[in-house]
Amino acid sequence: MEHNDFVISEEQMAYQSSCIERARELLLGRTGGRTPRAWVDTYGCQQNESDSEKIRGMLAQIGCDLIPGPDQADVIVINTCAIREHAEQRILGNIGALVHGKTANPKQIIAVCGCMVQQPGRSEQIKKSFRHVDLVFGTHMLWRFPELLERVLSDKRRVFSIEDSEGFLCEGIQPVRSSKIKAWIPVMYGCNNFCTYCIVPYVRGRERSRAAEDIVNEVRSLVAQGYKDFTLLGQNVNSYGRDLGGGTDFADLLKMIDSLEGDFLIRFMTSHPKDATDKLFDTMASCEKVAKHIHLPFQSGNDRVLRAMNRGYTAEEYLQKALYAQKTVPGLVMTSDVIVGFPGETESEFEDTLELVGAVGFHAMFMFIYSPREGTPAAKLDDPFTREEKVKRFDRLTALQNEISLRKHEEYIGTVQRVLIDGTAQRGEYNLTSRTNGGRLVHFRGPESLIGEFAYAKVTQAASWALFGELE
Ligand code: 5AD
Ligand code: SF4
Repeated sequence: MEHNDFVISEEQMAYQSSCIERARELLLGRTGGRTPRAWVDTYGCQQNESDSEKIRGMLAQIGCDLIPGPDQADVIVINTCAIREHAEQRILGNIGALVHGKTANPKQIIAVCGCMVQQPGRSEQIKKSFRHVDLVFGTHMLWRFPELLERVLSDKRRVFSIEDSEGFLCEGIQPVRSSKIKAWIPVMYGCNNFCTYCIVPYVRGRERSRAAEDIVNEVRSLVAQGYKDFTLLGQNVNSYGRDLGGGTDFADLLKMIDSLEGDFLIRFMTSHPKDATDKLFDTMASCEKVAKHIHLPFQSGNDRVLRAMNRGYTAEEYLQKALYAQKTVPGLVMTSDVIVGFPGETESEFEDTLELVGAVGFHAMFMFIYSPREGTPAAKLDDPFTREEKVKRFDRLTALQNEISLRKHEEYIGTVQRVLIDGTAQRGEYNLTSRTNGGRLVHFRGPESLIGEFAYAKVTQAASWALFGELE
């Protein structure tokens, strides 16, 4: 598909606006004139968080008050994830439990959307097993949520709308953001990599990038509103712009945002190692506002497993990139994702993962036990290893990483860090939470009026998951 084929036209968006008006009338009719209340629940990654902010935006336009839980809700939207089986089980359990609220309030509308329902068969399963669900819509239908909700309200029947598509691009939806300090900024959607274990390319369509101008304008306007921390989102941000054909790559986009006026930080995730170029690291080093942090999932430290995963790099190539990044960007924080127990992964192949973890020295790592996803190539592979063996390996990896994280965090003791204070959390004597430039969590004591401000914290203690300190 050409880039323009993804773009939703103004006429289509105008039709959605008319659906918003009709849905508002119909919902008000249902509540007897009381302002309707809506709850959106989100599972999974930051991309899903960002999609939910758009769903909240559409619900707000429809006239709903957004509330923090299902009780009292006239409309419930469950935005689902499909990355691992455990996530799906939990979601299905929670959707099942909504039946009680619906029995008490039969006028309530329950919608389920996102990656889980985009998989073949899931929508039918929900249709059959969860009679209390009124609306199911797939990832490619997000922009049509007003139309689908209006159809449920006007026809008074259940609606199931899943379309197999390569995706869409749409600038017209105003999100209601959950923070006044930090903002998610999608820069591209979809994934073309087809790592053999991963469901994402099947449920999120092909890679498509937003125009750089739209992204820069969005950040500029949020800076003016006081936002201080931006995370540029994409399944693989390093292939940003390839579909635009205008010669702007991700590093160029970082430079464009960096040159905006204001005191703020630019973060991004996720980077695919095969597409992380020297130019990216050179740009990170030279751009003042780009956080010195890279999330660079390596998934495995063994070349046979990496090939079987279709990752497109060797362990040595990954290590060389990591070393170049650490040399080029002083003080760089590196984090990663790793999968334990890919089908057929042997003990010695797993030990290659331990070795790479030791050689790079990540500040933090997200570790997952392989979960077969129907429809992906890896799900068809033989797997002679038991769950118990995988859990043992997982525990060994966790112990090693905890040690490394602690060591990395101890290096901060005695230093003064510029942090962005982002919230409260009572942890012993500490009441405020904050993040360093590299994204490390720092707890300290201070007035809540500082939330949303940059400050300096002297680090006095470290744990494997966080730092502790005092306000300078
Ligand atoms: N099983 C386990 N972990 C997975 N991930 C993606 N697919 C699977 C799967 N089938 C992990 C990868 C990815 C992260 C977001 O989730 O490590 O980087
Ligand atoms: Fe999944 Fe690989 Fe795409 Fe990441 S890059 S979303 S792991 S297919």
